[in-house]
Amino acid sequence: MIKDISEYKKKKKILIKHNKYYYDHNVSKIDDASYDKLKIELLNFEKNSIIPVNEIKVSDLVGYKPSKKFSKVKHYERMLSLDNAFDKNDIIDFYKRINNYLNFKSNFRLELFAEPKIDGISASLKYINGNLVQGLSRGDGEYGEDITENLLTVSDIPKKLKKLKSGELIVRGEVYIPRSKFNHISEKFANPRNAASGSLRQKDATNTSKIPLSFFAYGTIFMNHDLCNKQSEFLNILKSEGFQINSFGQIVKNEDDLFKNYEKIESVRSQLDYDIDGIVYKVDEFKLQQRLGNLTNSPRWAIAHKFSAEKGISKIKNIEIQIGRTGALTPVAKINPVNIGGVTVSNATLHNEDEIKRKDIRIGDTVIVQRAGDVIPQVVQVDKSKREKNSKKFLFPKKCPCGFETIKEFNKITKKYDAVRRCPDRGYECNLITKEKIKHYVSKDAMNIEGLGKKVVENFWEMNLVKLPQDIYNLNFDKIAKLEGWGKLSAENLKKSINKTKKISLDKFIYSLGIRHIGQENAKILGKYFQSIKFFNKLMTENESSYKDLFELDGIGETQINSLKNFFSNNTNKKVFKELVKNLSISDFKMQLKGKFINKTFMFTGGMEKMSRSEAKQIVENEGGKVLGSPSKKLDYLVIGDSKPTVKKVNQAKDLGIKILKEKDWYKLINP
Ligand code: IVH
Repeated sequence: MIKDISEYKKKKKILIKHNKYYYDHNVSKIDDASYDKLKIELLNFEKNSIIPVNEIKVSDLVGYKPSKKFSKVKHYERMLSLDNAFDKNDIIDFYKRINNYLNFKSNFRLELFAEPKIDGISASLKYINGNLVQGLSRGDGEYGEDITENLLTVSDIPKKLKKLKSGELIVRGEVYIPRSKFNHISEKFANPRNAASGSLRQKDATNTSKIPLSFFAYGTIFMNHDLCNKQSEFLNILKSEGFQINSFGQIVKNEDDLFKNYEKIESVRSQLDYDIDGIVYKVDEFKLQQRLGNLTNSPRWAIAHKFSAEKGISKIKNIEIQIGRTGALTPVAKINPVNIGGVTVSNATLHNEDEIKRKDIRIGDTVIVQRAGDVIPQVVQVDKSKREKNSKKFLFPKKCPCGFETIKEFNKITKKYDAVRRCPDRGYECNLITKEKIKHYVSKDAMNIEGLGKKVVENFWEMNLVKLPQDIYNLNFDKIAKLEGWGKLSAENLKKSINKTKKISLDKFIYSLGIRHIGQENAKILGKYFQSIKFFNKLMTENESSYKDLFELDGIGETQINSLKNFFSNNTNKKVFKELVKNLSISDFKMQLKGKFINKTFMFTGGMEKMSRSEAKQIVENEGGKVLGSPSKKLDYLVIGDSKPTVKKVNQAKDLGIKILKEKDWYKLINP
């Protein structure tokens, strides 16, 4: 921290000297991180002090030594996203789900805090001893980009806290552009959100400062401080520290309250000076939030209730069939471009074959299209009065463009055929499914190969450069450098990011394979079970016993096991798998080393008084243990809840000599 103007002047001289080295002599005598630190210190000082008029300010200097790239910084705690609810039923389910998880009786009125969901860009701010020291973008959730300098230019973000002068505090919130100010810069960007995103990622923060960015603070992460117990209280603290807090935040206590609040805010939505796209409901009490914990990408304790979509009218020019990663044939309407809520829409999903039949949607039809936030736009209604006389029913193709016959699967539970038609999941054998699997392979939550997004995969696929995922590891970068829009530097960067991601953990690798029904959660369960690629390889031998053992895993059932079998019974898939393993360095699943249940297995039967099964399972897993689905010799403890335990399971466990815990013993074990 710079103390006074004389230190400021001294340090500014050093910065200018380095600028000169860099610009006049093309040499760098300082590493990027130190240079950036120096610059931030100076900018910080300027923000918070009165600089004499004859003094040149660092923020006025042009031609900084540019940082090559935003450096990546690991978030203190993963920066999660939110689960979305689109109608009242989703919200009622959420409310029931959390009450069940916490084992609260239905007459218990769990308090939620409702706030508008600001449609901007999330940022995480770190304060040490009351000073803003770092600002990160969300990035991939685990690592954010260091955009400190850009965030320093946002006047709503306090650079110093007013009261909290010791310890660390992380404040999370949303950067946005007020609608009234967006008008001045609207030629360059489609909507305020894009503009906010673009300006935050300016390499030169002086450009960011020209854009009128604002900030709403909405949260923190759990650190070892005891500031308060509730979200509602925390927001008041943030307010008193100088943050801008949204004024619509309110505690809601029951379903009625929730929907009234939603309707109230939706009715004033268009009059607000910022874009919002829904309401976020958060369990108010931090202790309960902690008990509920997180899923892979979103907290269990919060949900976003999205506002109903905006609509537009257009005409269907054509209907194309897209093949998804798991073989689903999705009809997509190519429509005359129409502006819906600030976004130009030219494609809209028609969902599936049954939906087209049910609504009798045809090429040439005039249709109502709706768009909600970042969800794919969809055709919701046909205006049959505008239909031309010679229009014909749309014939849904029965073959996949790859040549395979398609099927409709029979759902054993609903006893009906699926609405979705599929190219039978032969995995990497259908070249169109493969293209989608490659897009999945490189995506953020999978291998996370920067610079190899969906569009690039599409181009490389068209040019026959990448036809299978392993082709990524045999790319000719000299050739890529010569492609239109590439160049040496971009090709070099792509090469680097491919190499950088070759070291991958087992669970991420399993997820990257894009096997149907094996999402992030299931990939983690499998990673934890197999631990190393050596053991996971066993699935390739199609040895029945390796599959049978999987039934023991809580969360993995017949559907998942059949899907794994199906994947590994196919020679093309096996080849892809082997080639990928050859090219990668797959690290063992990171086993938790600390926790009181390391290497211990539990099984639960019967309902418990104080907690749900899900919470009990989470506690076991947080402490490094495993929950099994059926009693076996591998089981260490059977916990019997007081309400209706399964006698058969108890007897089986007794026969196997397994330690049996009554409900009260379980509470003692976790809270000795
Ligand atoms: S709470 C653990 N509250 O929406 C995640 N998020 O779609 C807790 N957002 O990533 C997020 N307004 O960037 C929360 N009042 C609000 C919000 C909000 C906007 C953003 C946030 C989040 C995204 C999820």
